[in-house]
Order: sequence, then C-alpha cells, then structure tokens
Amino acid sequence: MAYELRSARYLAAEALERAVSPGDTVIDATMGNGHDTLFLCRLAGEAGRVYAFDVQAQAVENTRARLTENGMLGRAHLFCLGHEHIAEKVPGPVAAAVFNLGWLPGGDHGVTTRWETTKTAVESALALLRPLGVLVICAYPGHPEGDRERENLAALLSALPPQSYNVLHQRFLNAGPGAPECFVVQKQRTKEGQTA
Ligand SMILES: C[S@@+](CC[C@H](N)C(=O)[O-])C[C@H]1O[C@@H](n2cnc3c(N)ncnc32)[C@H](O)[C@@H]1O
Repeated sequence: MAYELRSARYLAAEALERAVSPGDTVIDATMGNGHDTLFLCRLAGEAGRVYAFDVQAQAVENTRARLTENGMLGRAHLFCLGHEHIAEKVPGPVAAAVFNLGWLPGGDHGVTTRWETTKTAVESALALLRPLGVLVICAYPGHPEGDRERENLAALLSALPPQSYNVLHQRFLNAGPGAPECFVVQKQRTKEGQTA
C-alpha cells in the first residue's frame, strides 16, 4: 500500500488500534455521533467495556442508535454527563482514552468543549491509564475556545514528567491555522517492565 501522510484523525485511530486489545476498558470522553465509540467497541471486543460521555442528549441518542445498528450496545456504558465526571464513573485502569474536542458535527456550535472541564477530564484520564495505555486528543484551533483549549493543552502536556509519560504532538505545518492537531500521550512501563 502507498505511504501517505494523513490527518490528525488518522494518527488518533492508529494509536488506538495499537493500544487497545480485546477485553480492555477504554474511555470515549466526547461521544458526539458515536463514530469513535463504535470504533472503540470493535477494538475492546465482547469482553471489553467502553465508557462514553457527552453533555448533549442528542449525542447519546445518536451513539445509542449507531451501536444498536452494529450490535455493539452491550459493550458500552453511555453517560449523558460531562467528561469532568470520568473519575466518578470509570473503574481503572484503562488502555485508552479518546477526546475529539469541539462541537457536535451538524449540531449547536455553542455547545463546545471548554478548557476548564477538558482539563479536569484529561487529568482524570491520565490518572486512570495503565502502563503503555494511551490518551489521544484531537484539538481544533481556529475559533476562540478551540485556540484556548489547544494552547492550554499543549502547556499541560508539555509539563508531564518524561519518566512517566511520552507526549507526541502532530500538526501539519502548511495546512492553515484551523487545521486539526493530534496529541498522543503514552504512560511509560513500570520500573519492573510490567504493562498491567
Ligand atoms: C467533535 S464532537 C465529538 C465527535 C465524536 N467523537 C464522534 O465520533 O462523532 C465533540 C462533542 O463533545 C461534546 N462535549 C462538549 N462538552 C463536553 C463535556 N464537558 N463532556 C463531554 N462531552 C462534551 C459535544 O456535545 C460534542 O458532541
């Protein structure tokens, strides 16, 4: 197959595919229309569990319908709740957590993720990651809240101790100011080399 440089979403999917195995617990922090939730349900398999969050009832309904259509509803816990509540709802450790920031495609642009709650959720997800687990975040600068989220996120993740986490930031330098960017954080192995 030809080698192609692809979008931020492509890197996100690749990291998740590599990090998640059947039986794993994973988080979709921004359910939206359920594309990522379905993708995670497939990776986590019959014995795995996906904990998915969104503040909009419409997003939960769209996701429920998508999972039902694909026979995957039994693999997911869907919460109509902000991702800032992850720590209360998700039993760790988790193999992966995914954030696709911004607003619901085709929905109200006023209901967007905001840095204050994104920060709480990202910190909770980091605390729940198992060794070699990944946190994958797609950020969308180009509007005021998206710019603020991206800047603060970059600062928060840059300050993570390298003994505990590896942090990757991908952006296409010639794609214009609003192009999506991807952050991938992987928790290091334990000192003994354990992965679980
Ligand atoms: C870009 S969309 C997600 C797309 C989704 N991953 C998909 O596969 O279709 C961002 C979503 O984040 C949701 N959102 C906004 N604030 C939130 C919060 N505090 N907690 C959880 N979700 C939130 C929005 O309602 C919106 O549906």
